[in-house]
Amino acid sequence: MNSFAVVNHWLHLISVIFWIGGNAFQVFVLSPFIKPGDPSNETLLKISKRFTKISLFFLIVLVVTGGMNFGVRRAGHEVIPPGYISALAVKIFLVVGMAAFPVFSLIRPVDEENPSKAFNLPQAKMNLAIGMIIVFIAAMLRQWQF
Ligand code: HEM
Repeated sequence: MNSFAVVNHWLHLISVIFWIGGNAFQVFVLSPFIKPGDPSNETLLKISKRFTKISLFFLIVLVVTGGMNFGVRRAGHEVIPPGYISALAVKIFLVVGMAAFPVFSLIRPVDEENPSKAFNLPQAKMNLAIGMIIVFIAAMLRQWQF
């Protein structure tokens, strides 16, 4: 057994669980309890900033461990099926889409004068949907025989 591959795969999965799980928590658990002024905009702003920071951290871990996953998967194979490469490319394209929200918030943070937009439910829903498609493609990659 390749212990490096196991730890790397584990880190990849843990990061996926925490990132997509965070979005799922916002959509299914948190959103029904958010009322105007309750919790305060200040609290929402803190939650939003913290989640953005955590998302960026997991994004970096995912990119690094994803590259390693690919290295492990292709080891010993002269030729990788073009279909596998295409599916991986679509996955990476979607990862870029999912990463856009936390990355752009670095450039343009939530307006502190108007913090009511701090809890962005449409963004959480969008990221959850993209994340579910990415995990579907990951399952396809897993089952690809070559
Ligand atoms: C640039 C970033 C990423 C790269 C290069 C990458 C690459 C990979 C590769 C090569 C595998 C192994 C596939 C195989 O078994 O043949 C994998 C597994 C996986 N990836 Fe990623 N990945 C990235 C980001 C993500 C993200 C953002 C998510 C989810 C939101 C994700 C979800 C998964 C899951 C769930 C698996 C495990 C599949 C399984 O064990 O059954 N990956 N990734």
